[in-house]
Amino acid sequence: MIALTAAEIADITNGRLAADPGIVPTSVFTDSREAVAGSLYVAKPGENADGHAYVGAAFERGAVLALTERDVSDDDGRPYPAVVVDDAVIAMGALAAESVRRIRAARAAQGEDFTVIGITGSAGKTTTKDLLAGVLSRAGATVAPQGSYNGEVGVPLTVFGADEKTRYLVIEMGATGVGHIKYLAEMVRPDIGVVLCVGSAHAGEFGGVENIAKAKGELVEALGQDGTAVINLDDARVAAMSSRTRAKVLGTTATGNSASGNTASAVEARNFDVDHDGHPEFELLLPDGGVPHPVHSKLIGAHHIINLLAAAGAAFAAGLPAADIADSLSAQSPASRWRMERTERADGVTIINDAYNANPESMRAALRTLADLGHGRRTWAVLGAMLELGEDSIREHTAVGTQVVRLNISRLVVVGREARALYVSAIQEGSWGDECSFTETADEAYELLQAELEPGDLVLFKSSNGVGLRYLGDRIALPPTGTSANTAAAPAADEGNELL
Ligand SMILES: Nc1ncnc2c1ncn2[C@@H]1O[C@H](COP(=O)(O)OP(=O)(O)OP(=O)(O)O)[C@@H](O)[C@H]1O
Ligand SMILES: [Mg+2]
Repeated sequence: MIALTAAEIADITNGRLAADPGIVPTSVFTDSREAVAGSLYVAKPGENADGHAYVGAAFERGAVLALTERDVSDDDGRPYPAVVVDDAVIAMGALAAESVRRIRAARAAQGEDFTVIGITGSAGKTTTKDLLAGVLSRAGATVAPQGSYNGEVGVPLTVFGADEKTRYLVIEMGATGVGHIKYLAEMVRPDIGVVLCVGSAHAGEFGGVENIAKAKGELVEALGQDGTAVINLDDARVAAMSSRTRAKVLGTTATGNSASGNTASAVEARNFDVDHDGHPEFELLLPDGGVPHPVHSKLIGAHHIINLLAAAGAAFAAGLPAADIADSLSAQSPASRWRMERTERADGVTIINDAYNANPESMRAALRTLADLGHGRRTWAVLGAMLELGEDSIREHTAVGTQVVRLNISRLVVVGREARALYVSAIQEGSWGDECSFTETADEAYELLQAELEPGDLVLFKSSNGVGLRYLGDRIALPPTGTSANTAAAPAADEGNELL
């Protein structure tokens, strides 16, 4: 992070300096257990605990300053060095905004460029963020979010990872309502804005898909004239965003959709296909007047073409040469866990663990990929609930159940009550018997799979993060301890009881 004194922090956040440590913090943490020597600890009221209770713990770990919403004193009644603000999260945003401004000014004074790239969309943000960071880090110091940090806390924390030496700052932007992306975009002022797709993720909270389109488009609305909006022309709601920006528009397409409106140019995937293992391959054509460059990705699933093209478009807008972009996209494996993560068990069972998260779009994409990868093998879909769908929940789960049958997936295991509509609709659609199972818990699903998986089977795990099927997938991916999967030992009693 850039150097900010406690007095400057108070000034930027409209806060009150309770006690000045006289030391400049060098990093920022919101979890007291992670605080390190020299850090700024942000005490915010959380969902489960109030961060103010851990100020002392953070100082014990070496924090030098706290950002709090009230005065906090040690056991002897002495106030901890702190800046006291009305709202710690808003204060983090103000600090992040000032950090970006100072980095930009400091680099400009040295004659150095600084490029901020914002990425949003209903699915694929983290995948695209990882791909883009992989490409950009070949060309200069790159800071990108940890994991899937993408909100009012995660974005400032990402910014605090950057300093005057940072060349590229990649920001993932998530939203659960109209105005959220606008807030984040005004904080980091991106030069390049990437919009991937508009889906029904969080449709319940948003109040409909049109509101999602409105919210995602706030990113391109925030760009200046010198900026570039990288938009997916193959999604009609995203393509329509070209009229909502002052920036240059760089469209991406895998289907030859033509650039329209003020779309200046396009990034194209020609001859797009997936190979036998589900890896996307295509010829990348950039609007640089050059020849197409082959890309053969290590990601799994046709849907990743959107993310690959978006990363290519953003890297091109940031000035990278086409050949380097294509090389890097071909070289990168999935960087974050539980995203179409493939494990080959020694007994010939293949596990695809995509249970990092789930919404209707990513569920459909994963199931299509499972069907594509089948090639005559027995396919299993082990599915848990898609959470946060609000009043659409039953309808969306029902639609997935129908899709499983239509895709001819061999076996369906539905785990957990919240996903029961999926099971019921699959039974109704296919009048299945043994092919379709429902289990209340992940432990029961584990027993069922251990008993019934056979060499050659291909098993997909997919659910929302909160359901935790990723851990079930991890347990099934462990090498069987017996001579075959059917004789694998039962799990230790203390394993996995918290999965659901
Ligand atoms: N274009 C796409 N269409 C459908 N599913 C996709 C697409 N891109 C990625 N996915 C799938 O969506 C899931 C989440 O991917 P990723 O983590 O990249 O998305 P995200 O937008 O960062 O999600 P979150 O909102 O949880 O941060 C994964 O299962 C991934 O395979
Ligand atoms: Mg994410």
